[in-house]
Amino acid sequence: MKTRSVATCQSCGARTPRWVGRCPECGEWGSVVEELESREPSANGPAPDLQPLPPLDETACGRLSTGLEEADRVLGGGLVRGSVLLLAGEPGIGKSTLTLQAAMLMATHTDVLLVCGEESPTQVAARAGRLDGRSERIRTLADPSLPAVLAAVESGPDLVVVDSVQTLYDPAIPSAPGSVAQVRECGSRLARAARDRGTTLVLVGHVTKDGSVAGPRVLEHLVDVVCAFEGDRGDGVRVLRALKNRFGSTQEAGFFEMTGRGLAGIRDATSYLLADRCPGLPGSVLGAFVEGRRAFLLEIQGLVAPAGRQMARRTAIGVDSSRLPLLVAVLQRRLDLPLSEHDVYVSAVGGISITEPAADLAVVCALLSAWSGAALPDDLVAFGEVGLAGEVRQAASADRRLAEAAAAGFRRAVIPWNTSAEAPAGMTLHRVRHVRDLLDSLGTSELTGLRNPLQGTAARASNT
Ligand code: TYD
Ligand code: MG
Repeated sequence: MKTRSVATCQSCGARTPRWVGRCPECGEWGSVVEELESREPSANGPAPDLQPLPPLDETACGRLSTGLEEADRVLGGGLVRGSVLLLAGEPGIGKSTLTLQAAMLMATHTDVLLVCGEESPTQVAARAGRLDGRSERIRTLADPSLPAVLAAVESGPDLVVVDSVQTLYDPAIPSAPGSVAQVRECGSRLARAARDRGTTLVLVGHVTKDGSVAGPRVLEHLVDVVCAFEGDRGDGVRVLRALKNRFGSTQEAGFFEMTGRGLAGIRDATSYLLADRCPGLPGSVLGAFVEGRRAFLLEIQGLVAPAGRQMARRTAIGVDSSRLPLLVAVLQRRLDLPLSEHDVYVSAVGGISITEPAADLAVVCALLSAWSGAALPDDLVAFGEVGLAGEVRQAASADRRLAEAAAAGFRRAVIPWNTSAEAPAGMTLHRVRHVRDLLDSLGTSELTGLRNPLQGTAARASNT
């Protein structure tokens, strides 16, 4: 076979005529590698057999429950039969654990094949033992070469799990396993074979935080569902989200915690997230958030500290880092808070990343409390978007946020002025039009003192 060398970016898949240090497409440094590819174009085949679309077969479109309620929630009720799913996440986040737990539960009523590319079947069996599940019904394949995996798909399993797609290799391709050429070729051939047979296929893929490792991104367009498993590798919540879903919503999230016996779904996210909360601390407030059909409360913490000689930092963990500088600028211009010589930190506690702008009002409350050194009332929640003029804008699903807060025992909520939702029984709503109104609504004397913020604020900030 004649081959030629091409340079391909391992991050975005772009090709360049020769090796370069930085990918011209995605700007990644050191991601371009040279790969060999065949020069012989495929010959035209015989005239194809063109068919009309088959009639809708309801049973073929049915869903296979994963047995894990949180995973089914994200998928929209389970894996669609004959579909291809890519499960992407950082190494160590729990992809193998999640897929093995689901595989064991599904193997009780379906024929499951596990392609063990990363660990030997013995190691998988040991892990299954720790997970307290029954693995003996799962068939395993220890050889991740494409011909072996394709033959195994032909043997007729209902579900094939490949852990991981980076270990697959086609011996006809000269690049190493995990390279873009291998991942793209093996992933697409396997997906086609699975679709032809009506087999459900789950491909596990590693990505790093900056997405720089080869693989999963070049597969996104050829799979039906892309799920990301992310979060805190320590004790925090691990979140499963659908980034793409041909058969359902991409709004839902599944929450898990890693225990000594594998991943456990977290049904009541609010109780889990608030379990470690220390009441009465300055700089802390509860925000109310929604993911799909579920609302939950999460603690947002702020810290304001003198910046020293370097440029003042604005650091956000777990909340949208691009919005923090905007909110700090709003506080500077609309409330005259002299933050230019202060570092500002904001963190969402518990490992869940919040991207919705409805977090703005909680972030602003946390920063005002941190600045003044006055703790906010413990029974207060806040949600709402903040605009550049300091105006407070509506957040979607306000009624569900308020109901969740009321159910968790909260008595006060700071919300956008034009929210149509009524107050749940026993709860007082503080409707605010502008961040300025917060100074009255927050109800602590220290914060009310911020009305004249330039007086003595520097002295207060140095105490926080
Ligand atoms: P793993 O599923 O191997 O992650 P990935 O496949 O995404 O690389 O497991 C992640 C971590 O979870 C690993 O460091 C060990 C830990 N773990 C537990 O805490 N409890 C368990 O029951 C299992 C199986 C793993
Ligand atoms: Mg793994």
